[in-house]
Amino acid sequence: MKYYVLPDENAIGQAVGNLFCDLVRQKANAVLGLATGASPLPVYARMISQCEAGEVSFRDVRTFNLDEYCDLPQAHKNSYRTYMRQELFDKIDINSQNTHFLDGNCSDEFAESERFRQYVKAAGGIDLQLLGIGRNGHIGFNEPSENFTQEPFKVALTPSTIAANSIYFDDIPMPKYAMTMGVGMILRAKQIVLIATGSAKADAVKAMLEGEITPRCPASALRQHPHVVAYFDPSAAALLRK
Ligand code: PGA
Repeated sequence: MKYYVLPDENAIGQAVGNLFCDLVRQKANAVLGLATGASPLPVYARMISQCEAGEVSFRDVRTFNLDEYCDLPQAHKNSYRTYMRQELFDKIDINSQNTHFLDGNCSDEFAESERFRQYVKAAGGIDLQLLGIGRNGHIGFNEPSENFTQEPFKVALTPSTIAANSIYFDDIPMPKYAMTMGVGMILRAKQIVLIATGSAKADAVKAMLEGEITPRCPASALRQHPHVVAYFDPSAAALLRK
């Protein structure tokens, strides 16, 4: 896996935002795999500023988000639909009909998994997938486990993830379950870009790049993909051998 260490999250946001904008300039109806959390924010800021400057249009782009909480109304301020509207979709010229999410409130998780999988397939697959990494090495909400996950599924979130994300929940307890793309589905993306910033990610970054490829560090699976590039700040890269 190729990686770059850039000075800070803004430099990373510019570089990764440019990757997305360049792709969309080459392929107007590109299929983007998007992520939530803190890491993507500077990326989305760059995409917004390029769109505002008239340098790129997202009019024909299709998007699929990695994951969504279960048991949380879609319009709740902490749903990932709300996040994506606030942080990107409402600020660019995307057609909201082209933005797709797993339904965390579905009654049949297996039917929902199949629906989402078929949508991605019908779109021609994901051209470029954005990822963060969890402190425990998760990607999407694929928590450390005994087997690599494949298709979208309902996951019980681990205490580490709940501790990291519960700071965003000031009104209700954080959901304990989510629907997420599986690792196998993430690996079907044609290109993947992963971002990690801050010292809290240093152990996970080291395990991803230098540990064994194991479902106990789901991000380690990315080393099997031919077109992954990662961007770290110096704190996230601090434990790497070189
Ligand atoms: P963060 O989360 O970008 O908010 O640090 C990343 C992740 O948990 O995948």
